[in-house]
Amino acid sequence: MADTVFLRDQWYIAAAAGEITSAPLARMICGEPVVIFRGADGKAGVLTDRCPHRKAPLSSGEVIGNDIRCGYHGIRFGRDGACAHIPGDIPAPADFRARAFPSIERHGFIYMWMGEAAPDESLLPDFFENDDPAWAPVPGYLHIEANYELMIDNILDLTHVVFVHKTTLAGGGVAETPLAVEVKGDRIFARRMMFNVDTAPIYKAAKGLHGKIDRWQIFEWQPPSFVKVILGAREAGSALEAEGQPTHVVVNGFTPETDRSLHYFWSTARPWGLGDAKADALYKSMIDLAFAEDMSIVERQQKLIDSDTSGAPLRAFPFDRSGIGARRIVRRLLDEEAARRGNRAAE
Ligand code: FES
Ligand SMILES: [Fe+2]
Repeated sequence: MADTVFLRDQWYIAAAAGEITSAPLARMICGEPVVIFRGADGKAGVLTDRCPHRKAPLSSGEVIGNDIRCGYHGIRFGRDGACAHIPGDIPAPADFRARAFPSIERHGFIYMWMGEAAPDESLLPDFFENDDPAWAPVPGYLHIEANYELMIDNILDLTHVVFVHKTTLAGGGVAETPLAVEVKGDRIFARRMMFNVDTAPIYKAAKGLHGKIDRWQIFEWQPPSFVKVILGAREAGSALEAEGQPTHVVVNGFTPETDRSLHYFWSTARPWGLGDAKADALYKSMIDLAFAEDMSIVERQQKLIDSDTSGAPLRAFPFDRSGIGARRIVRRLLDEEAARRGNRAAE
């Protein structure tokens, strides 16, 4: 996995909306240093962090109105990257601009488009639960030292909850029940339905389900790195309404920082207990703990992959199918992007 090439003509989560204020935030996204900031009009912008003057960080400066002013020699740029002012009123050369990345604020996240192609809003994930008044969201963030695909593998195969998340998400039926996986175009849908199984600590604590339960996990992955997990539990024997109200969903964006690190943006949202601070705190503590466990195993896995000189490949079993499917789609889209770029270069 060394030197991963990232998909470019895609959206990535650059920040949680609440992180972005008029104080510029520097962040590496897919190997690109960027600065994210909010103008006086409330709109966010994403520019390269490399000032086109002498390549100092734009993020060292400050936001003035809707522009950012570089902290080195004070040149100002708009959110579109156009030079707005050079000290001494020096006229800006026509080609003097900062690279601007198209961005959009939606569902509590700031998404940025990495590619040169025109941004395509139909490729944004529908993470509506994160800012819908009928849902109670509990967001979080982790910086993880691993390739982003290892975290996609992790979330697309929740067999691991039994072994990694013993005090929170484990419970009966998960490891024994096969995952039904369906590939539709560029997307992957997977589900696991479990009947009359032991409850899980999170359902005991959050919903008072102490005995046997019926339980389901539904996964929706879309490129490049978005996953919605829909989770439900009811008392065993209740009608299983997989298409009905889930107990909670987890929306996930795994944004590569480098080949060996990622920004993990997540939010768990529930359609009940709105304004219930105790339920918020319970979800926050359980999911923080569970995702720290994921981070720990995946960071150690990455180190062992990197230090392995045996040449042995990673192996896959049926429960790895959705992660493998996601990797296949990413490879195909990378080939398609390379072909498009080749065509553009040949024109
Ligand atoms: S390096 Fe930014 S203004 Fe000079
Ligand atoms: Fe996990």
